[in-house]
Amino acid sequence: MIWKEKYKIGVPLIDAQHEELFARVTNFVETLRSDKEWDEKVNSVNDTLGFMKDYVVTHFRDEEAYQEEIGYPGLEEHRKTHQDMVSYVGSISEQYEQNGFKEITMQQFAGKLVTWLVNHVVADDQKIADYANQEGK
Ligand SMILES: [Fe+2]
Repeated sequence: MIWKEKYKIGVPLIDAQHEELFARVTNFVETLRSDKEWDEKVNSVNDTLGFMKDYVVTHFRDEEAYQEEIGYPGLEEHRKTHQDMVSYVGSISEQYEQNGFKEITMQQFAGKLVTWLVNHVVADDQKIADYANQEGK
């Protein structure tokens, strides 16, 4: 997934977080797809998982604060989507630990992240920018 300028919502902090997410997910997918043995990938994969667990907390908090600031009418629905993602990250991480760090679990996670970029960052988050522009905020 290549980050594009048009994905920006016009808030530097949020845009930087989104751009970093794109870079992380791209790297994650490439690592999983590489021909290396799982032993050689696992550290990088675990780093990504750790990053994502923190990211969903801090980034969602910052993005919701911005929505609150501009009086975005879709905030409650948006918050619910974020909460579902936080729960998902928690449960996939638990599953991964319980099944002994299997690659297949992280492949599922990578699929979910790519879908998240397409359906959430590129679609739902853009609606915040549309609203801000329309209201002149
Ligand atoms: Fe969002």
